[in-house]
Amino acid sequence: MCGIVGYIGKKEAWPVLIKGLERLEYRGYDSAGIALLREGAFSVYKKKGRVSELSKLVKNKNENELSGGVGIAHTRWATHGVPSDVNAHPHLSNGGDIVIVHNGIIENYLSIKKILISKGYKFKSDTDTEVLANLIEDVKNNAKVNIEEAVRLALTEVVGAYAIIVLSKDEPDTMVVAKVGSPAVIGVGKNEFFVASDATPIVEHTKKVIYLEDGEIATIKRNPKNKKLILKIKTIDNKVKNLYVHTLKTKINELEKGGFPHFMLKEIFDQPESLRNTIRGRIVLEKGNVKFGGLEKFKDELKRLNRLTIVGMGTARFTGLIGEYAFEELARIPTKVEYGSEFTYRDIAEPSHTGLIAISQSGETADTLNSIKKAKKEKMLTFGIVNVIGSSIAREVDAGIYNHVGPETAVASTKASSSQVLLQIMLAIYLGRMRGLSKAKGQEILKEIEKLPALVEIILKNAKQIEKIAKKYKNSDNFFFLGRKYNAGTAMEGALKLKECSYIHAEGCNSTELKHGPISLIEKSFPSLVIAPKDSLYEKNKSSIEEIKARGGPVIALTTFGNKELENIADDVIYIPETLEILTPILAFVPMQLLAYYISVERGNDVDKPRNLAKSVTVE
Ligand code: F6R
Repeated sequence: MCGIVGYIGKKEAWPVLIKGLERLEYRGYDSAGIALLREGAFSVYKKKGRVSELSKLVKNKNENELSGGVGIAHTRWATHGVPSDVNAHPHLSNGGDIVIVHNGIIENYLSIKKILISKGYKFKSDTDTEVLANLIEDVKNNAKVNIEEAVRLALTEVVGAYAIIVLSKDEPDTMVVAKVGSPAVIGVGKNEFFVASDATPIVEHTKKVIYLEDGEIATIKRNPKNKKLILKIKTIDNKVKNLYVHTLKTKINELEKGGFPHFMLKEIFDQPESLRNTIRGRIVLEKGNVKFGGLEKFKDELKRLNRLTIVGMGTARFTGLIGEYAFEELARIPTKVEYGSEFTYRDIAEPSHTGLIAISQSGETADTLNSIKKAKKEKMLTFGIVNVIGSSIAREVDAGIYNHVGPETAVASTKASSSQVLLQIMLAIYLGRMRGLSKAKGQEILKEIEKLPALVEIILKNAKQIEKIAKKYKNSDNFFFLGRKYNAGTAMEGALKLKECSYIHAEGCNSTELKHGPISLIEKSFPSLVIAPKDSLYEKNKSSIEEIKARGGPVIALTTFGNKELENIADDVIYIPETLEILTPILAFVPMQLLAYYISVERGNDVDKPRNLAKSVTVE
């Protein structure tokens, strides 16, 4: 996720753009940049770090260097290439004719890059965006078309997701915006236009907005005769579209969180998109396999691995407990899960041919980072499943896979955690396909993986029901979260989510363990959430529910749509859609996150920043 802003009109562009970036910083903040078009040339300023760093840089410039009414800007959350001045947007084409900002991922950028290199193009950055800038320039020069048509033709060759704003120095009164899969909003002012990833940078200037649809290209162009700016929209396949202008009613602080009252809720609701971004470009269905760019050069080592150790802390480790089942079942590799902190300080019996998988959203967790250093000393092959590109863990590991879920702002991990589970299952398929997992089995799971974003959408539609349940249980002092097999880790994650946000004591436990001690805690004020999808252990989970009910404990059962029988046993039932057993944790996470969120809000807590916690724990 990145933020893009554009302005064309009578105001000085740069203050509008910088202010716009500040409003979009929640979408990404590892580097920022601005391009101004003045007197037939671009001035481009870029800076690693937050928008404030760019702002300082720009404010130190001579006013003459900045004046002008056309510009574009970007705040970045790295997807290709580490955060740096060079990789920051905007990106110029080789000839300096085109400048572009982009939010999204161009999946086929490497093949386009190869062709452009063969034509003599040179690249300064590692980004997919610089490839797009040069592709547009190449099309413009060869087809001898204007910038609007060059963008359109170039996009017919592009696969992926994008919201882009493009300027050409040869057409200084034109701005082109296009979108597929990433958001773009156009603000309509009085002979001025604003473009942004969402309406937050726009609302203080105008309430009139146009939401660009997927596959649309908007061109804003000045009529040379009357100097009026005109907006036209067409599709990438060249059909003219009507303009629908909406009037904004929302307030700025609501917009920043996408209309949600808290980042945590926004990030829970981001999950259909964040899962889509985790999957994007990685599934090769015809081969029943998965493609991870970062693992390609390690194929031989990966084939030789005969053990895996997963390390992580908190939520990341709990997702590892789910991954453990997937690696053993699909890849047939003996796997164990450890706290990064414990791994660092103990003797490792068999390091050879053991791979270390470090899971971390922030990529900065000291306990996990230190375990990688230790593993490297032991000559183990180390991998990362990391969200923040260019973070310490991403740089320390031998090979890595990025989550691509965008910045996670709320302290409690939500969209990163579902992506962590999904990536481990995809990695298990990848390692499994090297070790005898059949193509058909790979295909079966991958087909179901592709459905997950839509299934999460179904769960989110029932959020109101979970809010009701939250109101009922908000005054509890204790809570059990119970599950088995894949969902034992899910139960632990559910308990952590509830305890860290609501301050209710919550324990996650394998439901099979209940009768070996914990059940003595059960009484009428001690509720349990039992994860009981219709899977291979459903009957066992049902027995656990009956055991708890027999001792007077309230039960919230989480089961599969259509399985009505638990309504007669449990006090409340939450449904998730049917999927493969191995994928149920990803769906079960969502209602548990919602429950933790709503209970915490009911208790008046600061859900985005629970007490005593920090988003990344960079000390041991
Ligand atoms: C809980 C939570 C933490 C983190 C843990 C590791 O909601 O967010 O338990 O999962 O601190 O953080 P990362 O993933 O950044 O290494």
